[in-house]
Amino acid sequence: MHDLLLRQCRLLQTDRTIADVDIAIQQGVITAIAPRIAGSAKITLDIQQQLVSPPFVESHIHLDSALTAGQPRWNQSGTLFEGIEIWRERKQSLSLEDVKQRAIATLKQQASQGVLFVRSHADVSEPSLTALQALLEVREAVKDWITLQVVAFPQDGIYGSPNNEMLLEKALEMGADVVGGIPHYELTREDGVQSIHRIFALAEKYDRLIDIHCDEIDDEQSRFLEVVAACAIRSDMGCRITASHTTAFGSYNNAYAFKLLGFLRRTEINFIANPLINITLQGRTDTYPKRRGVTRVKELWQQGMNVSFGHDCIQDPWYPLGTGNMLDVASMGLHVCQMTGTAEMNACYDMVTWNGAKTLHLDDRYGIGVGKPANLIVLDAQDRYDALRKRAIVRYVISHGKLLVRTECPQTNWYGPAASFDDC
Ligand code: FE2
Repeated sequence: MHDLLLRQCRLLQTDRTIADVDIAIQQGVITAIAPRIAGSAKITLDIQQQLVSPPFVESHIHLDSALTAGQPRWNQSGTLFEGIEIWRERKQSLSLEDVKQRAIATLKQQASQGVLFVRSHADVSEPSLTALQALLEVREAVKDWITLQVVAFPQDGIYGSPNNEMLLEKALEMGADVVGGIPHYELTREDGVQSIHRIFALAEKYDRLIDIHCDEIDDEQSRFLEVVAACAIRSDMGCRITASHTTAFGSYNNAYAFKLLGFLRRTEINFIANPLINITLQGRTDTYPKRRGVTRVKELWQQGMNVSFGHDCIQDPWYPLGTGNMLDVASMGLHVCQMTGTAEMNACYDMVTWNGAKTLHLDDRYGIGVGKPANLIVLDAQDRYDALRKRAIVRYVISHGKLLVRTECPQTNWYGPAASFDDC
């Protein structure tokens, strides 16, 4: 007897074709995928030809600041830098319980909408490293239902204060999965360049991945991505490097941008854009025309680079909105990056699923196949386009072979203008 049997699935396969199949699960592992699987199960779900997809991947979020919007005050200018100022005030009162409670609440919100893999940044610029310790404890506490990666992120710069460099290394010793950075926020251009070299050295020393907040500014002279590219070319870090945001790339002149694209093609750098945040935070100093403030997603994708979309913030000093829904993120990316061609829309779906999984180095832990961990979602949709167009409800979330979440679709009843009260 199977533990779980999913009948009549429209399975979105790794090659992106769709197959009409049943899926059997036993002890947390997918044991069979076939047009008709015999036998019974402890739980059988009739999927009714709805779309079965690998889970959504949240490749960039800040769980330590999530759900703090308005504390101690709202960001009225809407700028990145007022956000950093407000967070500097808020983080004075961080406690382990405060961070853990908000992080787990946010992860539940995301998992309820089909997210089962998350990379979160943890601010390591405060001396107690409370945010980091809390997220490491959360990583352990949630591991049975969601996979969490933690980035040691020096929000105030590695060289912005005397202790920050030491704190970053201590965070890696404590067990952070990824080395972060913020070169465009270092005090000088030279500090920014030096910070990138330091990040690469630490990643090599501690055998960790790299994810740098890189050029998250409209300044067309912010050119740290070229430094990351140079370090990538000269190192053997390969696809273990990620450049997050790179919003300045949207402001570079084309002569420079095309040259840079050539350098980037020599690397396997992963890119993460955060469309909800980038479209609202950037362009704030522009009058008109007003820049979109998002990196060159379409061009990077066309060049074959791995690009994913992240949520970045959910109700925090930088962004007062957000629900954790990755289809909202992909939909905003699709609009802002003008990716409305058929292949382009499908690519936007991939940017919150497979591409994010590649960035997080999930390898064999991701995807739907016999022998793989049974992590999958069922959407009220026919295909990727349909899921994006209507921001489909995630009906079921299966995590490690267990039914984690079930959501009923809302029911609309159309009575028409001639209906009497008795009809309603
Ligand atoms: Fe971020």
